[in-house]
Amino acid sequence: MPKTGGYSVDIELTINGERTIVEAGSGDDLATVLRQRGYIDVKCGCDGGTCGASKVFVDGDVRMACGMEATDADGSEIQTVAALGTQADLHPVQQAFVDNFAVQCGFCIPGMVIEAVALLDSNPDPTEREVREALDDNVCRCTGYQKPVEAVLDAAQRMQGEQSVAADGGHPVTVAQHRDESTSCCGGGCDE
Ligand code: FES
Ligand code: FES
Repeated sequence: MPKTGGYSVDIELTINGERTIVEAGSGDDLATVLRQRGYIDVKCGCDGGTCGASKVFVDGDVRMACGMEATDADGSEIQTVAALGTQADLHPVQQAFVDNFAVQCGFCIPGMVIEAVALLDSNPDPTEREVREALDDNVCRCTGYQKPVEAVLDAAQRMQGEQSVAADGGHPVTVAQHRDESTSCCGGGCDE
C-alpha cells in the first residue's frame, strides 16, 4: 500500500538473484519495500539517509535504501548483505567482522559490510585512514569503530590470500581454511 495515499505501481526488482514483481506506492522508500518482502537484513536506523544501516547494492552501487524511492529502483538488481555469504560460507568481510569481534548489537553491521565490500572491490589494500573514510557515514553506537576498522583491514588481507591473525591472537587463518574448516559456531559447522 502506498505510504502517502498516492498511486501504487508494480515494479520489477531482482533481489538477491530472484526476479520479482512488487507493489510500490508513491513515497515508499526502497528499504521499506524490501523489509516488507522479508529482507529484514536491510536495517532502518534513521529513515533519513544518515546512519548507513540501510545500505544495499543497487546495480552494483552502494545506496541507502531508505533514501531511495522504490519506484526509482524499477528494473534494478538489488543485493542485500544476506546475499554476500551463507552461514556456512561467509563472505571474507563477514567472517572478518566475526573473528575480530566487530559485531556487538549488530544493527549497523549490514550497512558496514556492504560498504566494506564496495571499498575492497575498488581498493583491495586500503590504509586504515581509507577504511575510516569509507565507513564515515556508517553510524555505530556500540563498537567505537575500532573493531570494524580492524575487521575491514583483516578482510583485505584475507581477500589477497594472505594469512591473517584473528584479533584474539588465534591461529593464522586464510579464506580457504575458513571454507575448509567451518567448524566454529560462527562458521555454521556446529549445531548451536
Ligand atoms: S536508515 Fe537508511 S541511512 Fe539510516
Ligand atoms: S554494533 Fe551496535 S550499532 Fe554497531
